[in-house]
Amino acid sequence: MKILIVGSGGREHALGWKLSQSPTVSELISAPGNPGLAELGRCVPIKVDQPNELAAFAMREQVDLVVIGPEAAAAAGLADSLAKVGVPCFGPSQAAAELESSKAFMKDFCARHGIPTAEYKVFDDAIRAKAYLGDREPPFVIKADGLAAGKGVIIAETRREADAAIDEVLFLKKFGTAGQRIVIEDFLPGEEASFFALCDGETAIPLQAAQDHKRAYDGDKGPNTGGMGAYSPAPVFSDVVRDQTMERIILPTLRGMKAEGRPFVGVLFAGLMISADGPKLIEFNVRFGDPECQTLMRRLKSDLATVLLAAAKGELKNAPVLEWDTRPAVTVVYAAQGYPDEPLAGSVIRGLADADAIDQVKVFHAGTRLDEDGTLRANGGRALNITAIGDTLREAVDRAYAGVAAINWPGGFCRRDIGWRALG
Ligand code: AMP
Ligand code: GLY
Repeated sequence: MKILIVGSGGREHALGWKLSQSPTVSELISAPGNPGLAELGRCVPIKVDQPNELAAFAMREQVDLVVIGPEAAAAAGLADSLAKVGVPCFGPSQAAAELESSKAFMKDFCARHGIPTAEYKVFDDAIRAKAYLGDREPPFVIKADGLAAGKGVIIAETRREADAAIDEVLFLKKFGTAGQRIVIEDFLPGEEASFFALCDGETAIPLQAAQDHKRAYDGDKGPNTGGMGAYSPAPVFSDVVRDQTMERIILPTLRGMKAEGRPFVGVLFAGLMISADGPKLIEFNVRFGDPECQTLMRRLKSDLATVLLAAAKGELKNAPVLEWDTRPAVTVVYAAQGYPDEPLAGSVIRGLADADAIDQVKVFHAGTRLDEDGTLRANGGRALNITAIGDTLREAVDRAYAGVAAINWPGGFCRRDIGWRALG
């Protein structure tokens, strides 16, 4: 199989790393890729939101499967463009991607299909939105409708803060057009987990759960980020919770999307709050989590290429059961100083090979670039993902931080407490 991976993050490097171990994969191409992916195959400079260019390239190269990494590619209609030229694609159509690209669509969809999620209402009018708060209890959860790089959620402890948040999003356009509409929803108590299922439009097969660390600094302090670290499995996600999640959330979503003419193909990522009465849906994403994906790829033993192709072709029903390493995996995100607000660009990173040489440690590239003379530099916020596996989570975490210690990057920082909740 010749596979094209679309994206340039740590998630895509981890997918590429796993795919390149497959005996069924003959060539891996990335668009636009990164220095880690460049070690696995060609990188072509086509952007993720250029569906027609990507489809033309895939057809010209006679690619057997396109794997969509980021939501931006799906939301831009890449799967639709590929369908037109007959190239199999692992990733959702533009219409199916609305589960992530419009929170209002997602909430209304859940209401139509009885999927457990927080009570909510959608507004484009600040006065009505503020009046609604009068009937609710704090904390108030206010979300921009559209894609806002994981930053479009404000949790307000007081009415004043909530009113200010509504004004910032609707009037001051803090999130641009993503905030033309807002969703206000009730706060869900509990512990969060990310769960993933592979879907082919009709059949879903469960992957594993992971836990992410969204805040920038130790102790879950500081601004929200795309994720500063993750571990899998997630202890809070028991087999009972997994079965409840499949029965109450994933399968009804798959049936509902098909019935509404938007069959979902790709990986469905359920952001969950695990409460006393089972899992509640916080959000859907239509792609692997980053950095959760890196931990899943470290634990997956089965052939990834075969199962992604089966999903793309609507043949998951006959796919073999996936096998997983039962040992925990962890990933620590090493980010440029200043991330997420103003990441310092271009600082030099050294010592990657030393980190990679540590037993059970693998470093994935995210926002990095390589100078012509071979110097590696930061290129964006989250630059590296140091992943490790161990007999215990403690062992995996210690190995990952040994990897961090081997890297010489004065311009970077990472959280020092990844996994704290599960380590106790
Ligand atoms: P989202 O972008 O929807 O995943 O939201 C970002 C983060 O805000 C989530 O990971 C949760 O920690 C938090 N959050 C979002 N919605 C709720 C909610 N209804 N109740 C509690 N926390 C929430
Ligand atoms: N790490 C969370 C996400 O990918 O959205």
